[in-house]
Amino acid sequence: MIDKQPADQPEIILTGDRATGPLHLGHYVGSLRQRVDLQNIHDQTILVADMQGLTDNAHNPTKVSSNILNVVADYLAVGIDPSKTTICLQSQLPALAELTMYYSNLVTIARLERNPTVKSEIQSKGFERSIPAGFLTYPISQAADITGFNATLVPVGDDQLPMLEQTNEIVRKVNSLAGKIILNECRPLLSNASRLPSTDGKNKMSKTMGNTINLGSSEKEISAAVKSMYTDPTHLRVEDPGNIEGNVVFTYLDAFHPDTSYVNELKEHYQRGGLGDGTTKKILEECLQEILRPIRKKRAEYLGDKAQLIEILSGGSQVSREKTQRVLFDVKDTFGLNIL
Ligand code: TRP
Repeated sequence: MIDKQPADQPEIILTGDRATGPLHLGHYVGSLRQRVDLQNIHDQTILVADMQGLTDNAHNPTKVSSNILNVVADYLAVGIDPSKTTICLQSQLPALAELTMYYSNLVTIARLERNPTVKSEIQSKGFERSIPAGFLTYPISQAADITGFNATLVPVGDDQLPMLEQTNEIVRKVNSLAGKIILNECRPLLSNASRLPSTDGKNKMSKTMGNTINLGSSEKEISAAVKSMYTDPTHLRVEDPGNIEGNVVFTYLDAFHPDTSYVNELKEHYQRGGLGDGTTKKILEECLQEILRPIRKKRAEYLGDKAQLIEILSGGSQVSREKTQRVLFDVKDTFGLNIL
């Protein structure tokens, strides 16, 4: 599950999620499972990116504030262990905001406008000419997140590679100004699981589209989501040969079913004809129910004890505040601003 990179050398890992909604199976496959493994080997911090969440939600801040503890409960429910992984809240680390200010002077508007991920987000969010400045500049703030911990390894999806590239450009500029290495360049750690499609097989996963299965989805919601999954529209009768390519049920079976050879048999049978979508969906549903049942239960328990969640987040933020403060000191030093 851990990609190509050497996993035996301890690294400083920083990763994060925008707190704009509960986490779903796409997060689980793409990053959460991997983080559970990584925490045993590396010095891992996970940042709940509430400020980054606001960069396109300032008009509706409860979308962010109401999801902070949900995201923390999601982490804990899948097995992220706060005694191994530091979980912290971005807005509680003022050094990150300060670093963002210093780094802003090292990045041009043209460079920000060239970031392909930001570019496509601007399009899909329909910002046109009214792009919030915070949104255009969030890659700078993300560079502050990463360098604030002096991270060497950043587990992310491939859409985040442009952020890491911009981070390393900033790192090189700061180091060159300092005349010595004060910030580490970071490497991405891509999950080798391919991106999980939404249940409709067409659109990006989104809560408003109702095409996701969340970690906290109820049994009924899971069942309804699997029943509505996109399969092969040309597979009309059970006897007909069916296509597995683009068939979301099979993509999910590949991602979640523990028995690969059984899934391969199902695929062959489906392609030959004689295997109905009702049956494949039933198999997938059982498998997802089994995986999500204990996660949902733990998630509900954690959410039932908000004081504990807050304690975990505030403990992690306290540790992180000190770490990021030290990096800020070095960066301020580079600009000759530690004079008082
Ligand atoms: N931009 C990331 C996302 O949308 C979230 C994020 C914020 C992040 N800060 C980070 C990821 C630092 C990795 C490192 O998923």
